[in-house]
Amino acid sequence: MSSSVSTRVAIVGAGPAGLILSQLLADAGIDSVIVDSRSREDIEATIRAGILEQGTVDLLRRIDPDTRVDTVGNRHDGIELRFGDEGHRIDFPALVGRSVWLYPQHEVLKDLLALRLRAGQDLRFGVSVAGVDSSDPKHPVVVATDARGESLSVTADFVVGADGSRSVVRAAVTDARSTGHFREYPYGWFGILCEAPPSSPELIYSNSEAGFALISQRSPEVQRMYFQCDPGADPAAPSDAEIWDTLQARVPGTTLIDGPIIQRDVLRFRSFVARDLRRGRVALVGDAAHTVPPTGAKGMNLAIADVVLLSDALRALLVDQNEGPIDGYEERALDRIWKAQHFSWWMTNLLHVAPDATEFDRRRQLGELRTVAESEAGRTLLAEAYTGWPLS
Ligand code: DHB
Repeated sequence: MSSSVSTRVAIVGAGPAGLILSQLLADAGIDSVIVDSRSREDIEATIRAGILEQGTVDLLRRIDPDTRVDTVGNRHDGIELRFGDEGHRIDFPALVGRSVWLYPQHEVLKDLLALRLRAGQDLRFGVSVAGVDSSDPKHPVVVATDARGESLSVTADFVVGADGSRSVVRAAVTDARSTGHFREYPYGWFGILCEAPPSSPELIYSNSEAGFALISQRSPEVQRMYFQCDPGADPAAPSDAEIWDTLQARVPGTTLIDGPIIQRDVLRFRSFVARDLRRGRVALVGDAAHTVPPTGAKGMNLAIADVVLLSDALRALLVDQNEGPIDGYEERALDRIWKAQHFSWWMTNLLHVAPDATEFDRRRQLGELRTVAESEAGRTLLAEAYTGWPLS
């Protein structure tokens, strides 16, 4: 058995990028089909980062009257940089007139899935994509197998790969599944979710002799915390007591409120930018196009910035028959991607202690932290990037 459908834009991936793209296209009168290999339950349960930039929140409020970003989410007007036994607050509104919101990505996804399904979006779960057939350059075809194991082809005027870091669509844009610019880091994050009240009103990014720790939050009852670890660390190895000792030693000056650890994981660090973001009528957005290390929480925000650019370009192409914006998509997207790539790399190196750090390296790093925290220009640079550069 096989089936085929036609649409204007085929979107591979029902993450934040794919879902927001379908909404922005619908607003422009352009229909789309979204396919994703996962089930709706898996998508809604995946634990990811929790910080939304000001521009991301403004966009969610504009496209979704029912977004819970202001009810379940919380505005954060600053973060604390902790080093050398001192805390330094970075006051976002005072420095740059913007804020961030703590609103976990899986909650964003629940809102967006509900929004699109209510609007009648053709959204198919459990669909494995084998590749994109571009033999007719004006009508690329997504070749897939649907949830019942039957072949499915989606013929479109344009195909968008919003299918994450292991993108299948990428091969149709770059010739290989992994061609691009890479950087590995000698760091991982040991992450936990725990049942406890917040230990601090705002996020703490702490650099200590023993390494980095991040005290983040999820809700009044559940907290998210991370500490720097070896990238090959086994999440099951340490006892709960060892985890709390490690975290506490890295946040001197704050007494962490502990509680049952309900989830643990190890995050790997990697920077990646695909060599090409578009070929003909196939383009990449989000993690399919780039990966950043987690420090600073740029991943989802950057994906959404790609989508804002691409949706404008697709409207020009498919409604106005104007090819200028799609021809400029890659260059414009890369401007922000490399700024975010730099910011994530910089925050990572500013705060983590390299396994082979010498005394010189440690003292230089504390000098850099002081340069940032003690200068209004330094704090402003951090606040500008953390809260997000304006969206186009
Ligand atoms: C979170 C993750 C980040 O990478 C970050 O910089 C801040 C918060 C989080 O998961 O809460």
